[in-house]
Amino acid sequence: MAATRSPKPSNTAAPETTDSAPPTGRPGEGPTTLAIDVGGTGLKASVLDATGQMEHARARVDTPYPLSPQKLVMELEKLAADLPPFDRISVGFPGMVRKGRILSAPHFVAPDGPGGTPAPKLVRAWQDFDLAAALEEATGKPAKVANDADVQGAAVVEGKGFEAVVTLGTGVGTAFFSDGQLLPHFEFAHHPLRRDLTYNEVLGEAARRKAGDKKWAKRVWEAVETLRALTFFDHCYIGGGNSARLGPELPAAVSLVDNAAGILGGIRLWERTGGAAGEVAR
Ligand code: BGC
Repeated sequence: MAATRSPKPSNTAAPETTDSAPPTGRPGEGPTTLAIDVGGTGLKASVLDATGQMEHARARVDTPYPLSPQKLVMELEKLAADLPPFDRISVGFPGMVRKGRILSAPHFVAPDGPGGTPAPKLVRAWQDFDLAAALEEATGKPAKVANDADVQGAAVVEGKGFEAVVTLGTGVGTAFFSDGQLLPHFEFAHHPLRRDLTYNEVLGEAARRKAGDKKWAKRVWEAVETLRALTFFDHCYIGGGNSARLGPELPAAVSLVDNAAGILGGIRLWERTGGAAGEVAR
């Protein structure tokens, strides 16, 4: 697998390898990290050495539904069992996370998955579930859990000025960094963008399938301009599986980044979460 090097956003989305986070050590030195990306369609994991190199090809299984918190922990343990040993764990989770606890799990509260009708039992099961503690108990290793877009962003931002990250996949993720430090997470995905339709409903995977790539891409650029007006970002990075459907022409100060950042951000998460972000990823 490719090395993680200086964060170099490209103007074309690349496949599953990346040139992202700068090295934080040398192979064989420093902790190894089990980096997990929990997605609406797939659970992905790899073990990264201290430089951010993957020590093993990324492992992936389809996200099973219905998915209770206990089932997720079991699935992640199974994924980890096939990977090299690790010293610590980083998880990107598709919902609101505070201090390792899940405040919302929009994709997992419906028994049949994203977009389905939430089941009260699953809503209760996910509410306030301490995923970091559950993984620590299951593996005996320290764990950090943060929103998935926050983790992806940790891999790709340059560390200069106010940087925004948008991920386009099953749902729409956003993350914000100030001089490289992760800022508290906002659930833009659930904020109305057009009439009463949220970012998720206008730009998520279900909407893209319905509208087709051309119409969907137009909406993405409208949303990016809304975000620019709201945040005055210095730079905006767009990642996630569907980012490859955008371009080749990009608005000013916007670049596309590799989807593998979801895994590779697992290392940078431990560095970019001082200050206010301590609330976000403990
Ligand atoms: C969730 C976000 C998440 C995004 C991408 C949205 O549905 O609300 O928290 O970052 O999907 O997975």
